Amino acid sequence: MRKIGVLTGGGDAPGLNAVIRAVVKTAIQVYGCEVVGARDGYDGFASPGGIIPLGLSDVRGILPRGGTILGTANRGNPFARKVVRNGVEVVEDVSDEIVDAIHELGLDALVVIGGDGTLHIADELHYKGVPVIGVPKTIDNDISGTEITFGFDTALTIATEAVDRLHTTAEAHHRVMVLELMGRDAGFIALHSGVAGGADVILIPEIPFRFEAIAAKIRQRAERGTYFSIICVSEGARPQGGAQVYSRSGDAVYVPRLGGVGHLVGGYVEEQGFEARVTVLGHVQRGGTPTAFDRWLATRYGAAAVRLAAEGGFGQMVSLKNARIESVALKDALAVPKRVDVNGDAVITARGLGIAFGDEPLTPVSSPTGRGMQG
Ligand code: F6P
Repeated sequence: MRKIGVLTGGGDAPGLNAVIRAVVKTAIQVYGCEVVGARDGYDGFASPGGIIPLGLSDVRGILPRGGTILGTANRGNPFARKVVRNGVEVVEDVSDEIVDAIHELGLDALVVIGGDGTLHIADELHYKGVPVIGVPKTIDNDISGTEITFGFDTALTIATEAVDRLHTTAEAHHRVMVLELMGRDAGFIALHSGVAGGADVILIPEIPFRFEAIAAKIRQRAERGTYFSIICVSEGARPQGGAQVYSRSGDAVYVPRLGGVGHLVGGYVEEQGFEARVTVLGHVQRGGTPTAFDRWLATRYGAAAVRLAAEGGFGQMVSLKNARIESVALKDALAVPKRVDVNGDAVITARGLGIAFGDEPLTPVSSPTGRGMQG
């Protein structure tokens, strides 16, 4: 192994720089390899100046930094790229150009750090002859081939702090606070932060909810003399028989953008006679310094990716299993997306603590107390 490449694709996640650093240090110090980085994901192979050398000095001091020193793109799919031909914008498969560029660079391995979308592309490139190694990244934690993706712990920590902060102001004003959290179609961030922060209602995509069940939980608390409630709602949650809420539709290049269910829930809660406020935590969950756990995991993933490359384990992804770093074929890792186990111990634990998921059977309740409506 003489030369390896590394890229970061898809939405950023805290810990990307820790992986890059571990790749560069391990490749140079253990294997005497040259390392190059592709800027902005796969786009780097198709743009002038898109490939940069990465030496030890380039990765000095980046361990605690959020974002990625290489840049990233979540519209950089070489199998569906927007290009301008004869003045007209069209979507084209430019994967062959990318494969040629990778071969021309003489890469013996390409470490692809990404989530579901970026790793699917890596797998397709592997079938076209590119020696890829995958590293699972995403705050959503929705990749089934690993117990945990790096970035999730940081997002969870930030979300839990938000729940804690909302608690005090909710209690002071006797309000219902709705916190909309990221996660796409997986409810891990909302579930884990909701349990860690002591939410009263958690709404996740895996358990479609009924609005009445949310109101019932808030009324039950009011009847017991507690006039505030915290609702953690995952952006992908949807009412039973209803659809997910999008703030932007998708096209051949962009995936649809989830967002808005928090306001839907908050609006309903107000209609029921309770004062509500909605917080959409958004990209705060992805920004800033990674937690110690994410730095530790990302570093282990990066170093293991280089070792896997040296062993010729192409088409595979590093993964965490029983607290050990192992590897799994990309196609197996991505075959089924990871979702919250609705019968698993996390949900059972939460239900046992009295947290509502919005699917509880309704029992007769008295009318709202009206407390908390005086501005
Ligand atoms: O996949 C990570 C994620 O942060 C999701 O939780 C969220 O739905 C999406 O990316 C947001 O993407 P963007 O950065 O394109 O708005």
